[in-house]
Amino acid sequence: MPPRLQSLRCALSLAFVLGLLASASAAGRERLLLDFGWRFQLGDPAGLDPAVFAYPEVDALERTARAHLDEEPKLVPLRRTVAEINAAAPVAFAQPDFDDSAWRKLDLPHDWAVELPFNPQALRNHGYKDMGAGVGAQNSWEALEMGQSAQALGGVTGNTIGWYRRTFDLSAADRGGALWVEFDGIYRNALIWFNGRCLTRHVSGFSSFKVDLAPHANYGGKNTLVVRVDAARTEGWYYEGAGIYRHTWLVKAPPVHVAHWGTFVTSTLAADGTATVTAGTTVRNDSPAAAQAVLVSRIVDAAGLTVAEHTSAPFAVAPGTETTVSPTLAVAAPALWSPETPNLYRLVSEVRVAGATPDRYETAFGIRTTRFDPEQGFLLNGKKYVIRGMGVHQDHAGVGSAVPDAVQEFRIRRLKEMGANTYRTAHHPHSPVIMEACDRLGLLVVDENRRFDDTPEALGQLERLIRRDRNHPSVVLWSLGNEEFKDQMQGEPWGEPIARKIQALAKQLDPTRPTMMPMNGDWGKGFSHIVDVMGFNYLKLGDADKFHADHPHIPAISSEESSAVSTRGIYVEDRVRAYVPAYADKVPPWGSPNDKWLPYFEARPWVAGVLVWAAFDWRGEQWPYDWPAINSQFSVMDTCGFAKDSFYFLQAWWSGRDVLHLLPHWNWAVRDKQPIAVRAYTNFDEVELFLNGQSQGRKPVPRGGHVEWPVIYAAGVLRADGYRGGQLVKTAKVETTGPSAALALTPDRATVRADGEDCAIVTVAALDTQGRPVPTAMDHVEFEISGPGKIIGVGNGDPSSHESDKGSRRSLFNGYAQVIVQTAKSAGPITLTARSPGLRPATLTLTAAPVTPRPSVP
Ligand code: GAL
Repeated sequence: MPPRLQSLRCALSLAFVLGLLASASAAGRERLLLDFGWRFQLGDPAGLDPAVFAYPEVDALERTARAHLDEEPKLVPLRRTVAEINAAAPVAFAQPDFDDSAWRKLDLPHDWAVELPFNPQALRNHGYKDMGAGVGAQNSWEALEMGQSAQALGGVTGNTIGWYRRTFDLSAADRGGALWVEFDGIYRNALIWFNGRCLTRHVSGFSSFKVDLAPHANYGGKNTLVVRVDAARTEGWYYEGAGIYRHTWLVKAPPVHVAHWGTFVTSTLAADGTATVTAGTTVRNDSPAAAQAVLVSRIVDAAGLTVAEHTSAPFAVAPGTETTVSPTLAVAAPALWSPETPNLYRLVSEVRVAGATPDRYETAFGIRTTRFDPEQGFLLNGKKYVIRGMGVHQDHAGVGSAVPDAVQEFRIRRLKEMGANTYRTAHHPHSPVIMEACDRLGLLVVDENRRFDDTPEALGQLERLIRRDRNHPSVVLWSLGNEEFKDQMQGEPWGEPIARKIQALAKQLDPTRPTMMPMNGDWGKGFSHIVDVMGFNYLKLGDADKFHADHPHIPAISSEESSAVSTRGIYVEDRVRAYVPAYADKVPPWGSPNDKWLPYFEARPWVAGVLVWAAFDWRGEQWPYDWPAINSQFSVMDTCGFAKDSFYFLQAWWSGRDVLHLLPHWNWAVRDKQPIAVRAYTNFDEVELFLNGQSQGRKPVPRGGHVEWPVIYAAGVLRADGYRGGQLVKTAKVETTGPSAALALTPDRATVRADGEDCAIVTVAALDTQGRPVPTAMDHVEFEISGPGKIIGVGNGDPSSHESDKGSRRSLFNGYAQVIVQTAKSAGPITLTARSPGLRPATLTLTAAPVTPRPSVP
């Protein structure tokens, strides 16, 4: 070939390659946040025939009773199908041309329940938020179990229905591609309309799901998405919130693309340390024509280097169908994932079809091995690893279940600070944000399913959970349910075929992870023989040693333990205010104080570890005292994440750090000459306590326990000296403080991202004239904010506070309150001022740093 022609050809092929590259990077797929700019309205339109949206369900959704199995088929024909809803008279709110300009403007995530006042007539398990009650009997089993009478339901308002509307434009260029909306979570019973047509109903309040929009899209014009949420029913026995309380996404993809949740990455490790990664990838063809596709799979490490690559042979995908290809890729000397070394890789999957923009899809994953063993407990990357976990409910002070990502991360950091290494998603799928954060920050996850029966709804919930979460290296166990004891389903033969079906589905969707069932009794019966790992809920409810002796081949975990109750900063029981001492000695009949269960399980290394009940107090489930209490007290942190003393007990035995924590506070009005129990939570060998320099004795610390001294009160200084091997290593002090003199504001981070999502979690404290936090301060505080930020919630952890979660005021509770400040999309200083009569005000300046917000729907 003449040189000139050759160089022309080179130039042309370079242009071709560059062209390909350009089209590859030119947004083959877009995943846009659809959280901003919604309109919201409480209640249905006036005059609506209630039958239009009626959706009868079994009496109690929280636990399946035998009668439900007969009831369910009778209910199915009574439920309006989507086709029937579309055939009925159009409902104004769902119409594209409905004028929603008078509706409230808001951004997601949103929980309208948390905005409502408290009402003693409302559901106790929903924290007495004035939702109104669609269906009775839901104060039921829990209240009765705990020896209390169920609250009568009545005098309630109609706050159970919410409508959301969002309009957006689609360009003409989007036509022909795939288009769907992803809802990470809606509480609950959602009906979704798009451009006036009802597309689907999604019942579960906890499952994530997608809805295809392409067939009904208006390309080159305005599109209207409408969601009706019916939060009347409870699915559990705890606060659940109401509304679109997690993120929502709009996804645009080329017609031939990686399907929704379409990858399943698994790996094995050879003896020489090389990992073989199987990159299962499902490719979907939404075009009307057959396609020949090629899948390029690349594994990229944390530094952005491609460490393995594979190009498939061309394969066919028929129109409207999916094809799964499962290339294997070798990764030499992989950086293994563990909570201590959360090394992540990315699988970058590119689907190429001749003449079309390629689809590019990323999956974060980790390489690690796990094994539950009947003798050794749990092994991570071949080594014994003790599971030190916490059961977590999803709501937080101020924001209810609409927890911003920054607050989720804050909560995960708190768990890690305490020394926990595992997060149990009690008792349902949690937000995908948590799963990603556990991968990235390093926590194992016991991933729990909600409904346990074999109806299409319940099986669908499990399927969505496993498909969504099976790439997360953090997830080590599927928890198929929790305490399925209605009619003793967990232990009686009638439950077994149901459990077998559920187990088979879990295995089919994920053969790599074991399943577990938390059982509050019936150990050795029923479900114990069906799931892979036995879950002991509460050592008092069975004989773990007998189980182990009788079933030496079944691995086991303590799936729930403790339930010790405590109120932060309270050391004398107060039945009127429903406060329980923070010594955390009080437990329900099934629970055990921390110094009982901890040594018990430490002495049984065949048990994989313990999932403690619980991490953060949640709304609802008040015990031992009901109203005025509106939240539970079973946790080691309050609803804000402020530590109760038990936090330090666990930190002492779990974190491996030197811990020496003294309780109670030392701000007593001289009560009488009765001794006050002073305790140290510590991992030192011995502790000597002094009051105002006078030794109260040096005591050895029992493993997994605490030391205690009876001390006659005198104002001043309590000091503890911690000894290890006879050497003084650390000293702790608790001092009598003066009254509140000044306020202090301390953020978890002083610089936040100006993306309209990030938050600073600000601690409000009262200090005495010497700058010491006043542990008994209850001062009422008013907040003022200026700059590009807003207060999205306030709290103080008081289980009996009926102050609003919203607004700009809150009382301190035993010294502390919390303000959650969210950024706007513009950068600059945000100034928060706190004032209280008679106290020196505090001012905090946060920096909202400029960032490019993540792509969102305009
Ligand atoms: C358990 C249950 C938890 C919580 C706890 C309170 O039986 O699994 O959700 O209710 O009791 O002690």
